[in-house]
Amino acid sequence: MTLKNFLKRSIPAPPIPAPPLLTPPPSLDASVLTAALNRPDPVLIETRPGETADRIDRLPLIKDEDGGDVVDIWERMQIDARTDPVIADLFDTFHLWGSETDRMNAFVELGVGKALAEFIGRFGVKPEHSIADVGCGSGWLAYSLNCIGYKDLVAMEPNAGATMLLKRLAGDRIEIINDLDIWRGVRNRFDALVSMATVHHWEHIPWIAIEARRTMKPGAYWFAVMEWFADTPAEFVEAMNGHPTRERYKMYEWAYPASAYVDLIQSVGFTLNAVVPMYYRNNAYMTVGAKAPLPDTVDQDALNRLVDENLTGPNGTVELFWAEVDARRRAPGYKMFTRPQVMVFQRTAVD
Ligand SMILES: C[S@@+](CC[C@H](N)C(=O)[O-])C[C@H]1O[C@@H](n2cnc3c(N)ncnc32)[C@H](O)[C@@H]1O
Repeated sequence: MTLKNFLKRSIPAPPIPAPPLLTPPPSLDASVLTAALNRPDPVLIETRPGETADRIDRLPLIKDEDGGDVVDIWERMQIDARTDPVIADLFDTFHLWGSETDRMNAFVELGVGKALAEFIGRFGVKPEHSIADVGCGSGWLAYSLNCIGYKDLVAMEPNAGATMLLKRLAGDRIEIINDLDIWRGVRNRFDALVSMATVHHWEHIPWIAIEARRTMKPGAYWFAVMEWFADTPAEFVEAMNGHPTRERYKMYEWAYPASAYVDLIQSVGFTLNAVVPMYYRNNAYMTVGAKAPLPDTVDQDALNRLVDENLTGPNGTVELFWAEVDARRRAPGYKMFTRPQVMVFQRTAVD
């Protein structure tokens, strides 16, 4: 008996809801999304046992405590950037040349903070609201938000060395929390959390998400921007080996499938509320946006419209995200919603 027949016999089939009415842009293959929404039969993946000492076996596993002090790493990177093209490219991509102040200003000028401010405004988050930038690093995002009028900001970063410039530049306009015990003591204070490129550094995502959740008001949003993704073992190994700082400077980072972030975070009291796909608005929310130019097959205006008109709600971007997860988990092809620029989570009730 096939698994499908077994399931049919032993478990009454739930009523299948009508597929939501989705209008993908002409450049997207509508049949793929429709097929995914119609829940195709499971496909068995062909497997080979492979060899010993394969690429996963050889992958160096790095923990944060193996890494050095962030200030020391940064000094080494600056020296390496002068001679090593990989690190020089990293500096180009993230606008890391110049002094600390130059870098802070370069980020402000890049407009990511402004674009995000407009975006979080669509969820009712306003400049007078209380917002924390979790894992803020040098605090570029918190500083950008402060420059455009956000007043009640907390910059949370466990590595105190990273926030020294922010302390000098922002004075008492931004509260800095470096002590995790203080962070863990904050209760129901924030209307929103923002985070940029930090969740993939967390060694236990749900644990740290619970700590973050406790700082949020009921119903508050968490805008998780620019994470690190890999779906297949080959993609994973490539990502882990290709990361310019992971092995060289012993920084703990991990590439996960987008659905893994979502499942881990939703499982501890959040609901995925919206997903901003790659390429939307010319990658306006990512410092690395320029590294992912729009493919010829994607119509920028149509994609912007699709997202703007369906950002939230039952047939919105969350549905498109899961449709792409279903369609792409077992087949190669484009990735847009599963390479999101922003995942929006809402702190929701636990019954
Ligand atoms: C790639 S940096 C990103 C910094 C900053 N958000 C940005 O975009 O420039 C990742 C940051 O995550 C922080 N981090 C690591 N573990 C963390 C944790 N458990 N909670 C909060 N932040 C953490 C690191 O200290 C580091 O500053």
